[in-house]
Amino acid sequence: MAQVRDGFQSRLGFVLAAAGAAVGLGNIWGFPTQAANHGGGAFLLAYFIVIFLLALPALYTELYLGHQAQANPVKALKMAWQERNPKVGAGAGYLGLGGAIVMLSFYSIVAGWMLAHSIEPVTTFMGLDAVSQFLTGDSMMRNFVFTPLMLLLTAAIILKGVKSGIEIWSRRLMPVLLLLLVCLIAYMATLEGASEGFKAYLIPDFSKITDPDLIIAAMGQAFFSLSLGVGCMMIYGSYLKPNENLPKLTFSVAMLDTGVAFLAGLLIIPAIFVAQQNGVEVFQDGKLVGEGRLIFAILPELFASMGQIGIWVGLTFFVLMSIASLTSTISSTEIPVSFLVENHGMKRKSATWIVTLVILVCSSLIILNFEWLFGLVINVFTRYQLPLMGLFYFLTVGWMWRRGNQLLLATGGKQYWFAQYLKFVCPILMTAVFVNVVFNK
Ligand code: ALA
Repeated sequence: MAQVRDGFQSRLGFVLAAAGAAVGLGNIWGFPTQAANHGGGAFLLAYFIVIFLLALPALYTELYLGHQAQANPVKALKMAWQERNPKVGAGAGYLGLGGAIVMLSFYSIVAGWMLAHSIEPVTTFMGLDAVSQFLTGDSMMRNFVFTPLMLLLTAAIILKGVKSGIEIWSRRLMPVLLLLLVCLIAYMATLEGASEGFKAYLIPDFSKITDPDLIIAAMGQAFFSLSLGVGCMMIYGSYLKPNENLPKLTFSVAMLDTGVAFLAGLLIIPAIFVAQQNGVEVFQDGKLVGEGRLIFAILPELFASMGQIGIWVGLTFFVLMSIASLTSTISSTEIPVSFLVENHGMKRKSATWIVTLVILVCSSLIILNFEWLFGLVINVFTRYQLPLMGLFYFLTVGWMWRRGNQLLLATGGKQYWFAQYLKFVCPILMTAVFVNVVFNK
């Protein structure tokens, strides 16, 4: 008897898992930082425009490719290119797979920092000062302890499979994440200086809206945040039952992700102003002082200035960040694991450990060459790989798959206008953004 492919048990499980993949450091760290540096509300406006015009259709395209194929990205893209040149499709699938490993290599380092910072309030409370210093200090040793720890946590969930691992843990972790976020916002709103932050965040500075950098920043942020361009959404789409209402589910995932990014802004931007009120230097020449400083200096300084309660606020914040990271690392790890299982007949257990080992080797290379490699990898990944892969997926659905008629045939012509939009408008918009990325270094 043919083995039944593992998959999501329920619609809610899928939405929470896909939103978990999307919600991550990008939302809680990246989005507020970008907003603070690009005119607050102006960035918010640009972000919403980019989400509706480009990122939402891109999310649908990626989920759709996986959902139709019910297979991993290499197989799915090969299938979509069957009539033209399957090797091109499979090649793009491999590129996405490589991208997922690259992304995990730097992401798990940062996720490890979050984990270390979430333990620190406990060691501080217990008076273990040397341990606290190690946990918050910027050492190679700390990276070599916490990056593998994050990878092990990820592997423990992946080993259990889609239904019993990814789905169950997403259903547990996502509500906790939302609850922690709302509690932190409610607390922050009571502090002096927060109202200035709300104003800066919610009232657009329209003089910034014509800044070409704004739209690029918003696009990069939206694609990274929705985990587009590496196959995360393709693999999750493939685990969704064939008869599900994909447009509706796509919309729910995008709104949850955007909602969390918006909420994170309601926490972080007021926190920056509260910190400023408390004497912490947060802006220099209108820009936030060093982006890394926001999470690892400004916020900890702010928590420290709150006295005893600051320990618990800090703990809540970094647990929130660790959860957000974990639900993202599991989605990217699942891509190469499912490839090894489906294309090479490997057992899930062996596939998980091989992938974990490969990521560990790649992140160790980054840790050892941190100064020049870390920033470079992130830059190439977000500025080039994500938009190019997004463009490729649009072209695949719009022009290649059954000569661009797949969407129409599969929906009995019901999605005619949307199919035209994906075919003509999205590739043009995507190319325009990419050209801007290349010429606007
Ligand atoms: N989408 C994930 C994030 O926002 C990778 O962090």
